[in-house]
Amino acid sequence: MSNPSRRRMRRLRANESMRSLVRETRLSAADLIQPLFVVEREKDAGPIESMPGVSRHTVSQLGDVAGAIAGSGIPAILLFGVPAAKDANGTSAADPEGIVPQAIRACRSAAKDIVIITDVCMCSYTDHGHCGIIRDDRVDNDPTIARLGEIAVSHAQSGADWVAPSAMMDGMVAAIRSALDESKCNATGILSYAVKYASSFYGPFRDAADCAPQFSDRRTYQMDPANAREALAESRIDLDEGADILMVKPAMAYLDVIHRVKSAHPDVPLAAYQVSGEYSMIQAAVQRDWMDEKRAVLESLTAIKRAGADMIITYWASKVAGWLRES
Ligand code: PBG
Repeated sequence: MSNPSRRRMRRLRANESMRSLVRETRLSAADLIQPLFVVEREKDAGPIESMPGVSRHTVSQLGDVAGAIAGSGIPAILLFGVPAAKDANGTSAADPEGIVPQAIRACRSAAKDIVIITDVCMCSYTDHGHCGIIRDDRVDNDPTIARLGEIAVSHAQSGADWVAPSAMMDGMVAAIRSALDESKCNATGILSYAVKYASSFYGPFRDAADCAPQFSDRRTYQMDPANAREALAESRIDLDEGADILMVKPAMAYLDVIHRVKSAHPDVPLAAYQVSGEYSMIQAAVQRDWMDEKRAVLESLTAIKRAGADMIITYWASKVAGWLRES
């Protein structure tokens, strides 16, 4: 006989109603986080060339943007600031009147219940573009984590719900947790970029956030793409230091890592960041009519969720919310 198995897998694929009943993974707007770039200088606002469809906003535009995102059913935004002034120590990053504190307040007044997450790093604020304070041509870990604590407190005191440290410094989560607690910000959560690779997929973001390193690269602090066991060490350490949520970044090339981290810590919420290069490579193909945008985007996000992510940071968040509402 040509088909000896009694089980015919095609039976349950016969139409969309059946496929819906046996579907294992469902994407929802409630899973998604929208990143937003906010600029201090008006001349820096507008479309980002390397990320077709994504713009940088001024603080005065941001309230309307955040309100629309909340209205689309997206529960959270992730804010990245682009300051007017940079220096060697990234001083403007911890300014309580700086670009991110201003942005937090604008978003909060426009969208009372949206979860406001802030990226806590120095690379957009330093003139050398590295994620910390430099000494002898190297990022000096311990002065950097003290500064990250100050940055996190400035965000928390302006109303951020969760701070998201992305600098990949050792001890950064513990330093931030202590700084927050000492400043009576014990309700502020930490979404740690625990597993962040030194990835070429951040290329377009470095235009968006104006944070390309001016010498060398980030491989002395971000992870080697060849390593997966190391992701388990990073995750465990960040949990011990007080992280509330873990993140794997990028997402699509690291689905195995998402799966491993989720399996190792099934009781911890896990985020995945579908980064700028993942966005731009799909957009570039879509612009040439080589792929269908909606299908490609929904497939990529479903795969990230299937791998084990509980929440996904994606530049398509509010667009996806619109598509899911239609269907
Ligand atoms: C800052 C930071 C980066 C991203 C998020 N936070 C850039 C980097 O580490 O070089 C990348 C996000 C993206 O590519 O979408 N450290």
